[in-house]
Amino acid sequence: MDTLALLGGKPVIEAPFKPYRSIGEEERLAVDAVMRTGHLSGYVGAWCDAFDGGPVVRDFETRFAAKFKSRHAIAVNSNTSGLIAAMGAAGVSPGDEVIVPPTTMSASAMAPLIYGGIPVFVDIEPDTFCLDVTKVREAITPRTRAILVVNIFGQPAALVELRELADEHGIVLVEDNAQGPLATQAGRYAGTIGHIGVFSLNYHKHIHTGEGGVCCTDDERLARRLRMIRNHAENVTDELADGDLVNLVGFNFRLTELQAAVGIAQLAKVDRVVDGREAIANRFSLELGGFPGVVPPQVRDDCRHVYYVWASRYDERVTGVPRDLFAKALAAEGVPVSVGYVAPLYLLPIFQKRIAIGREGFPFTLTNRSYRKGLCPVAERMHEKEILELHVCSWAFEPTEMQSVIDAFEKVYAHRYALTALAQ
Ligand SMILES: Cc1ncc(COP(=O)(O)O)c(C=O)c1O
Repeated sequence: MDTLALLGGKPVIEAPFKPYRSIGEEERLAVDAVMRTGHLSGYVGAWCDAFDGGPVVRDFETRFAAKFKSRHAIAVNSNTSGLIAAMGAAGVSPGDEVIVPPTTMSASAMAPLIYGGIPVFVDIEPDTFCLDVTKVREAITPRTRAILVVNIFGQPAALVELRELADEHGIVLVEDNAQGPLATQAGRYAGTIGHIGVFSLNYHKHIHTGEGGVCCTDDERLARRLRMIRNHAENVTDELADGDLVNLVGFNFRLTELQAAVGIAQLAKVDRVVDGREAIANRFSLELGGFPGVVPPQVRDDCRHVYYVWASRYDERVTGVPRDLFAKALAAEGVPVSVGYVAPLYLLPIFQKRIAIGREGFPFTLTNRSYRKGLCPVAERMHEKEILELHVCSWAFEPTEMQSVIDAFEKVYAHRYALTALAQ
């Protein structure tokens, strides 16, 4: 019987895997072509033809909109800026409530705060780790202005249902689709089912431009507001004053021509990249789904999951070994693994100390919403005990390498009771 690497044995995986690299010759040539023009960014922050950027940015936007079947695609310099612009476009005002899940990257919950909005954390479903629609329905109040849903790990939330709910209440559904390009529900792309969907093009995502993002919307009015906020809205509201654009403060959220050129080349590869990740994930789900106490990602009916992360649920009552110890043993064997994703966001000091903006604690001064521990018990349990993530979808695996991850998992599972002494 092999000794576990954590207990001094030989690890199953001894050489590091090659990271998947999507940037190649196409991107280099595209960047070179922009370099030759000398116009590395095409924006002017005043009302003129260049207000909406240069030719490469516009070309990228046209292609992105066509690919994702969205009327408008508005390129921005990150998903974070896209989410802030979305909150501004939705008209979030001081004291307005914005429903968000606690299990997401911090930027999702920071965006409302910029406009004085109050994040209202609503619990997640244990099977998909996405917002629980029933609980969202119960959390809507007359102060709710928007729902900011996250397609976490590449799994679409119950987007169609949430859109119906938002429309019923006259509020805006914003999708944080940073992790879900080409994910679908009912044949429609995640990121295009909400009123606004925001994609990320940062280095870690399926396709990337180093840093970058895109906001999609079918709504003319929201598209116009997003474009304003992206490029110093305050300079152009006079030209366009029609009652809708007053009080719009803008930012510089502009993607450069160089990044847009990379984006065009990356967009041409998105199907291949996503198909590849899905195939890897499916193999792991098939092979590891047979271990009692490890439940592979559950894909919602009528949905496509695009596996930013292969996130399983671990049940220590079945395996007999605590999750964190099991993960430590996997890591010692060379498996790329982590646990719990992030702590529910309301546990961050910004919420615990109610200290977002300024000395007085704005905007928490406008609400008595509590951010106490225990607020979202499912999210807390998933973080503390159950989520077990294998970071396997972004490697350029040789078939034998993939098998070695499965072998390592099998080894740790088979010898897990040898770990119990360490647990005491
Ligand atoms: C769910 C989610 N939201 C927002 C972001 C922020 O994206 P960006 O780095 O493009 O601002 C990320 C990035 O990791 C993310 O995963």
